[in-house]
Amino acid sequence: MPALRLHLLVCLMLLPLVSIAGDSERGRELAWQYRCMTCHGVEGRTKDPRYPRLAGQQPLYIIDRLEYFQAEIEPFNEMNGHARPLTAEMKRDLAAYFSEQRL
Ligand code: HEC
Repeated sequence: MPALRLHLLVCLMLLPLVSIAGDSERGRELAWQYRCMTCHGVEGRTKDPRYPRLAGQQPLYIIDRLEYFQAEIEPFNEMNGHARPLTAEMKRDLAAYFSEQRL
């Protein structure tokens, strides 16, 4: 039980760090500049069934997925080329932006 409480405490302490980690205004600029919106929709709310919505998604999940695409685990995945040029900071900014959008 004390271990669980400590775990919760650490999680709560890290929470603000995670939420301020990315600059969402910069993320919005990147989303236009790198054309993420053309498939994922304006503010990540596409209605096209070929593409996942990014609005309201957990920022860490978005970063994790972008890293997965960068690793090119699926050689012909459409996202690989889009993820390739993104730096760690850009991934954080994009994740902050999309996670803040209303689904
Ligand atoms: C040409 C269309 C296209 C463009 C442009 C595009 N994506 Fe994607 N994206 C996809 C497709 C298709 C998938 C689904 C791939 C999969 O899950 O295997 C996807 C999946 C994702 C996922 C995972 C979503 C999930 O729920 O697992 C993220 C995150 C993502 N894209 C972010 C971005 C970002 C950030 C950009 C801009 C830098 C971008 N995408 C540009 C087509 C696109």
